Amino acid sequence: MSENIIHEITILPGRNRNGEPEGFDEIRIKPGDTISIVGPTGSGKSALINDIEIFASRDTITKRQILVNGTTPPDHFIRDPARKPVAMITQNTRCLCDLSVEDFLCMHTRSRGYRDQDLVEETVSLANQFTGEAIRRTVRMTQLSGGQTRSLMVADAILISNTPIILLDEVENAGIFKNRVIEALRRYHKALLFVTHDPLVSLLSDRRIVMHDGAVAKVLTPNGSEQSALKQMLAYDAAIAKVREQIRAGELITNAIPA
Ligand SMILES: Nc1ncnc2c1ncn2[C@@H]1O[C@H](COP(=O)(O)OP(=O)(O)OP(=O)(O)O)[C@@H](O)[C@H]1O
Ligand SMILES: [Mg+2]
Repeated sequence: MSENIIHEITILPGRNRNGEPEGFDEIRIKPGDTISIVGPTGSGKSALINDIEIFASRDTITKRQILVNGTTPPDHFIRDPARKPVAMITQNTRCLCDLSVEDFLCMHTRSRGYRDQDLVEETVSLANQFTGEAIRRTVRMTQLSGGQTRSLMVADAILISNTPIILLDEVENAGIFKNRVIEALRRYHKALLFVTHDPLVSLLSDRRIVMHDGAVAKVLTPNGSEQSALKQMLAYDAAIAKVREQIRAGELITNAIPA
């Protein structure tokens, strides 16, 4: 159905915590865009992605409005979970389902009308690109670690639910490689908005929304101007990852900084 194809999401400004209008005209998001949301604790980052998740219509505390393809979204986008084009994954996302990973994914693929067994395999292997500890298909969903659960939910959203918009709220501390998630979402042409406190992953996005006092304070589009800083940050990150591995392996750390 053409009304279900999303070409563009538009965020229209609302009000900050003091009731003053936000200082932007509109923010447009298209499939394949990656946008990070940054700002101090309590500045309204989660509130912004919540607005998108529920397609706010001036009916949330922020008074923002979210349009789909330039207009108010159809009712089933909001009310019908199977047709909702948004998947939101947070640090608290848990699965209360008492099935094995394989049975859960089979059930989900069947309920979506797929006959393809390979999709289950593909979903587990995509999830395993995001998480440090590999997910086994026979393990029960309730026994997965936090990071494994989130990784599986992202892979499921990409491949099985196939939602065009994915929202991540601070999942980097949950044992999930967010840089790999970003790469995968670009590859699958999804729109991704993610809240982050991690400087490296913020630099990996195409745009950065900066929050302050409940409002969007700035939208930065670096357009390649941060490339050398990104290279430096990747080198620092690799150095930190190396020390992390050495610590995990029980080694003594005598030289942490790369020459
Ligand atoms: N525009 C606004 N007007 C009024 N209240 C707001 C607005 N934006 C956010 N809030 C409220 O401010 C509080 C903090 O916002 P939020 O949880 O979005 O912050 P955050 O940036 O995600 O913080 P953290 O980094 O700690 O997760 C929430 O109670 C939220 O409802
Ligand atoms: Mg938050």
